Amino acid sequence: MVAGKGFGKIILMGEHFVVHGAPAIAAGLDRGVTVKLDLIDGFENQISETIEKETHAHMLKALEALQAQNQSSQKVKVHAIDSELPMGQGLGSSAALSVALARALNQAEGLNQSDEVINQNAFASEVIFHGKPSGIDNTVATYGGLIRFQKSLNPGQAPLVQSVNAKKPLYFLILPTHQKGSTRELVENVFEFKAKNEVQFQNLLESTEDLIRKTNVALEEGALQTMGQAMSLAHEYLNAIGVSNQALNDRVSACIQLGALGAKLTGAGGGGCVLALFENESQRQIAQGKLKVKGYEAFDATVKC
Ligand code: PMV
Repeated sequence: MVAGKGFGKIILMGEHFVVHGAPAIAAGLDRGVTVKLDLIDGFENQISETIEKETHAHMLKALEALQAQNQSSQKVKVHAIDSELPMGQGLGSSAALSVALARALNQAEGLNQSDEVINQNAFASEVIFHGKPSGIDNTVATYGGLIRFQKSLNPGQAPLVQSVNAKKPLYFLILPTHQKGSTRELVENVFEFKAKNEVQFQNLLESTEDLIRKTNVALEEGALQTMGQAMSLAHEYLNAIGVSNQALNDRVSACIQLGALGAKLTGAGGGGCVLALFENESQRQIAQGKLKVKGYEAFDATVKC
């Protein structure tokens, strides 16, 4: 039996606008998805009965897409999935699963694929689930780290991926709403919003590009206050295009009241998670305790420099 892992991710800034050509900044999480599988004789892929039924259809489709990419007719049995990520919460669980499957297939079949090929294969699998993914999720799920990502507006041309050097560690809290947002639907809704509000959308996209530039510099200089302010503004822009909701807005406000430097939804929205930045470990711990008293679950994630 072989195992493959994909990382989860947080988008620090630029979700949704990244689908429309703006850059975005994201970081890999240590948490991810691991799958275990074996090659089998037969004409159909199999998923172990021990794996949650709800995920079977999703996994079979992902396997089909990946095997088509590999031009392979070799079938497999997936024995186990170990997910350290809540599913459908904006933390890139679907891309992490695609990468985990791609890596496990690569190993099982001895294909010796580079990370670049794993990433391309996982993208093909993401297209099936999300329709028009920017490619940021599968890229972070493959490489991890802290990156600036910009998709090419020419179909078929590779995105621009650059690593970002953070001068200081980033102490985040992640607050799940436990409401599931459908990335596909939310991305489609934003396309509709753009069609109806072209000028407003263009202004928000350009303002987000400006925040990304500031955030990039702030990360490199360790200017966490500036970065926090940019995050909170980014949340307002996401709210303006209709992807936030009450549960997200409540958590953003609570984090700011409890001393966060900035807070925003992360991922597709419509539920999912809030990401809040803190000055240091002790500020984060104090806020985490107070959030718990208010009834908000929050777990920590640190992006190392
Ligand atoms: O919610 P997630 O983890 O699927 O993140 C989606 C990020 C979007 O920018 C909304 C879509 C994309 O493909 O970039």
